[in-house]
Amino acid sequence: MKKAIVVYYSYSGNTRKTAEFLKDKITRKFQTDMLELKPSDESKFFLKQCVRAFRKVQADLNQDLILDLKEYDLIALGTPVWAFGMAPAMRGYIDKVKGLAGKKIILFATYGSGVGKDKCLREMAEIVKAKGAEEVRSFLVQQYDVKNANIFEQKANGLV
Ligand SMILES: Cc1cc2nc3c(=O)[nH]c(=O)nc-3n(C[C@H](O)[C@H](O)[C@H](O)COP(=O)(O)O)c2cc1C
Repeated sequence: MKKAIVVYYSYSGNTRKTAEFLKDKITRKFQTDMLELKPSDESKFFLKQCVRAFRKVQADLNQDLILDLKEYDLIALGTPVWAFGMAPAMRGYIDKVKGLAGKKIILFATYGSGVGKDKCLREMAEIVKAKGAEEVRSFLVQQYDVKNANIFEQKANGLV
């Protein structure tokens, strides 16, 4: 069976919920691993979180990370939108990850107001394409929709 991995960061649970829906969907076709990023240096304060994200800080990920994804056929990367971009945890991961060449990648983000949501995915797409990703698809889920399985299915329709 082909292998997939869903790598995500979630501070307040929204992106985790979306990652779990995605895992359930992918599992129908792939043997699927999950990796939740748990930065050791993330602030609990909104303003500090915004400043770090805006300054493109890469969080410290002092955990057992899978950084070489060459064994996976399908790779999904998810983040909340923070200050118009990805959260520092995803920035730290996407910078270091290897093994994306020739792979199919699904990018996803959850968001609040929506400001910066497209920019967030665009930058992630640029990074994975620069690492050789062959096919990059993406979807976005608004924070109030994350628990709605029907909306998820609409957003993720045709991705896997
Ligand atoms: C520090 C911080 C910055 C945020 N910045 C944005 C933003 O620029 N644009 C936006 O649409 N939502 C923004 N949000 C809202 C989050 O993207 C949204 O609540 C997301 O679903 C949170 O995901 P999580 O529960 O997985 O952490 C921000 C939230 C936080 C905590």
